[in-house]
Amino acid sequence: MKNSLIITFAILLFSSCFLTKTIAQKKEGLKDALKPDFFIGTALSVNQVAGKDPRALAVVRKHFDAIVPENCMKSMFLQPEQGHFFFDDADRFVAFGERNHLWMTGHCLVWHSQTPAWLFVDKNGKDVSRDTLIARMRNHIMTVVGRYKGRIKGWDVVNEAFNDDGTYRKSKWYEIIGEDFIPLAFKFAHEADPNAQLYYNDYGLANAAKRNAVVKLVQSLKAQGLRIDAVGEQGHNGMNYPDLRELEKSIEAFAATGVKVMITELDLTVLPTPTHTETADVSTNFEYQKSLNPYPDGLPEAIDSAWTQRYLEMFKIFLRHKDVISRVTLWGISDADTWRNDWPIKGRTDYPLLFDRQYNAKPVVAEIIKAANEMNKKNGKNKS
Ligand code: G3I
Repeated sequence: MKNSLIITFAILLFSSCFLTKTIAQKKEGLKDALKPDFFIGTALSVNQVAGKDPRALAVVRKHFDAIVPENCMKSMFLQPEQGHFFFDDADRFVAFGERNHLWMTGHCLVWHSQTPAWLFVDKNGKDVSRDTLIARMRNHIMTVVGRYKGRIKGWDVVNEAFNDDGTYRKSKWYEIIGEDFIPLAFKFAHEADPNAQLYYNDYGLANAAKRNAVVKLVQSLKAQGLRIDAVGEQGHNGMNYPDLRELEKSIEAFAATGVKVMITELDLTVLPTPTHTETADVSTNFEYQKSLNPYPDGLPEAIDSAWTQRYLEMFKIFLRHKDVISRVTLWGISDADTWRNDWPIKGRTDYPLLFDRQYNAKPVVAEIIKAANEMNKKNGKNKS
């Protein structure tokens, strides 16, 4: 009798411990597991910030502790006409971040894309002078960074300034101002908010030529006494690119210059890359498009599991380098709202993010949490 009571008690105790642990694991978000390591962030669209998508917001609150605006802080939206700023969406974004105690990054101050039509030209449509463009850049940066001083904690100051071969992209910024446009942008951003962290952000940085160009840039900014806190490595990855050893080398190379590394725009596409030239108009070729959209109704199991494995491998690399990585940000919340569905071909069905079209966490989320917990059990670290 006594023995059976003891056994029943032991079983009850074991089951309740097991249940409590399971419930705790279910409640644990990415941000809880990754707290000792780095911020885990997501990009937010204007609609999400405006609360039009409550399921997305629930995911943000549970899983993320950092946000970045996907579009509303780009110059074409913030200053559509010279001197006329539009801050409604950006203000809502910042208010949302503050209400939810989220680390906020501003994206992005100087970029060749999504610039307003007036920015580089005079009233006759001719390129403005170097001095005029510098003055316009300064005014834009001072106004935008100044408005969110002390509230937005870090800025993508310059975005995508290099070509894949490491040469400067021949953007209007470069053509009119020259290489100096980068140090000037960092100088103005620091002037506008001396406490804000400042980042250089680009894609394809696992590629050695581009990586070396960015290493040289960081060294040169530092040599000029300018503030730069981190390199943002966009992570618009595919199933066979980048080579993850090269990705790891790039993290190490940037860290060796003394700055932090941020994985800033992470997603992992499963869709084929079209090999068409600019003269082949894929949008008018239905059959061709169809072959480039192979999974409209869901992923085959083998692809899904390879995708999960690759995501996990990437996160294991990030965790191994948690001492130098200060943030990992996904470029969106769910597969329903990723830019990947519309690029480089409109209307495809892609699966690049951690949450599916119904905002359910994919199995990889639990795997990442497990990997983080295991690693943190071995050795902790407080994020900086
Ligand atoms: O706001 C207009 C709207 O008025 C118009 O009706 C509609 C018609 O298509 O377009 C809307 O603008 C779109 C904008 O997103 C805002 O939704 C543009 O067409 C669309 O091209 C734009 O795409 C964004 C892209 O940057 C622009 O280059 C993507 O959402 C955004 O995810 C993407 O993000 C970039 C990062 O900023 C930098 N790194 C690469 C990354 C992926 O391209």
